Amino acid sequence: MSVEAPVLTAIPLAAWERDALAVALSKAGLPTEDVREKGPLFWRYNTREDLPAGFGGMEIYGDLALLRSIVVLPVVRQHGFGDAIVAALENEARAKGCKSIWLFTTTARRYFERLGYTMRAFDAVPEAIKSSRQYKLCQDGQAMVKTLSAPPPADSAAPGAPA
Ligand SMILES: CC(C)(COP(=O)(O)OP(=O)(O)OC[C@H]1O[C@@H](n2cnc3c(N)ncnc32)[C@H](O)[C@@H]1OP(=O)(O)O)[C@@H](O)C(=O)NCCC(=O)NCCS
Repeated sequence: MSVEAPVLTAIPLAAWERDALAVALSKAGLPTEDVREKGPLFWRYNTREDLPAGFGGMEIYGDLALLRSIVVLPVVRQHGFGDAIVAALENEARAKGCKSIWLFTTTARRYFERLGYTMRAFDAVPEAIKSSRQYKLCQDGQAMVKTLSAPPPADSAAPGAPA
């Protein structure tokens, strides 16, 4: 039986629209220090019914992305929203030309392993990512990375499409 991935709408959050994000991160024990700064990009993800399901964020360093601040609201966990948010952020990183995506976690190593991320020593973190606030804030956590596959060429036919 195939289970459909949930459909989410991504709403970009300007620096002054991030109060609910900060509350959700704080309740989940994740850092909030820089969420109102201009550098990191954040989105709220709404369900098909236009209800908030969670948040996610990303920083871009050339062709490297740093995934951060992934949180699903507790009442809707275990419904595939976390996976859908990570997939949406990976697509965003690909669209911005990123070749790999890094993250730091203290609580969800197995969750991200499930999604294809592998552990790396802190020494192996690229210098650009080391310059991030997240790197300094997550020294007691684990560094993980995933290589992003290239997006299909724009004119490639969909599988099964007529030639
Ligand atoms: C981690 C989190 C984003 C997952 O979101 P979610 O919507 O519940 O996840 P999904 O429904 O997409 O996926 C559920 C699967 O992930 C697993 N999972 C969820 N949280 C996990 C965790 N912390 N560690 C390991 N596995 C986890 C579930 O067991 C389930 O596995 P299964 O499909 O084999 O049964 C959510 O639990 C959360 O917001 N946690 C608090 C914040 C956090 O830790 N964020 C990560 C920061 S780096």
